[in-house]
Amino acid sequence: MNDTRKQLPRNVGNGLNCSSCHIAGGTQANAGPYVGLTALFPMYNARDGRVISLQTRINDCFERSMNGHPLAWDAKEMNAMLMYIRWLSTGVPVGSQVAGRGMGQVDPSLKPDRARGATIYVAKCASCHGLQGAGTPDGSGGYVFPPVWGKQSYNTGAGMARTETAAAFIKSKMPMGQPDSLSDQDAIDVADYVAHQPRPVFAGGKPDAQAKRR
Ligand code: HEC
Ligand code: HEC
Repeated sequence: MNDTRKQLPRNVGNGLNCSSCHIAGGTQANAGPYVGLTALFPMYNARDGRVISLQTRINDCFERSMNGHPLAWDAKEMNAMLMYIRWLSTGVPVGSQVAGRGMGQVDPSLKPDRARGATIYVAKCASCHGLQGAGTPDGSGGYVFPPVWGKQSYNTGAGMARTETAAAFIKSKMPMGQPDSLSDQDAIDVADYVAHQPRPVFAGGKPDAQAKRR
């Protein structure tokens, strides 16, 4: 989960690791925690319009967030990820939802101001993620601070490419080290700016049935 790009070069098509978004190996509230997920999956998924397994959900992130290719369901790497998530879910009763699941929330009635978002990005994000969104390389092909747009980032089909999802994550976790320091309006403005920068186009067809603001 933490070193995905190096461990699975055939499946990852960008500069990210799962933990770039599922922070600290998927153990933090409002940063896509994996805790409790084996008590919920298989479950109905609105984007797919059908019941999906945890394997399919992981592969959705490989194809969209990692701009890459799915793992076989019986691959040892898939089973390793499933075992890790199962271990994190120890003791969570089947069917119950752990508090802090997902990316958090911002007020959905707010209207994004993309120009204001650009100003916030330069002031509060560019020091780590770069003025061109390309991140800060670590010198060995990876990143100290991951790319937020461009060829090495998530594609247009990713949840993070939706203004509202990105705003919730950014409000909960960014700038790194200063969680919850942005107002909902700041988060939605900067998210709208980042979400609409150029990035790889999702090849799998319709971008995202749930997309409201693109
Ligand atoms: C660019 C950010 C990003 C990256 C990188 C990423 N994901 Fe995700 N992932 C998301 C978002 C956004 C969601 C949806 C969260 C929500 O529903 O609010 C999600 C959801 C999930 C879920 C379902 C969570 C739930 O509560 O139902 C799983 C499992 C998952 N991702 C696994 C992975 C794995 C494994 C990797 C690496 C192969 C990965 N993700 C990489 C952004 C990312
Ligand atoms: C001090 C450095 C720092 C600052 C400032 C910062 N981030 Fe991040 N950001 C990170 C790190 C590090 C990660 C990856 C998390 C990890 O690996 O634990 C990340 C991850 C992300 C991600 C998900 C991964 C990706 O590459 O898309 C987004 C989106 C993001 N940041 C947006 C922002 C926005 C918007 C701001 C400004 C409000 C911001 N960040 C400010 C360090 C920073």
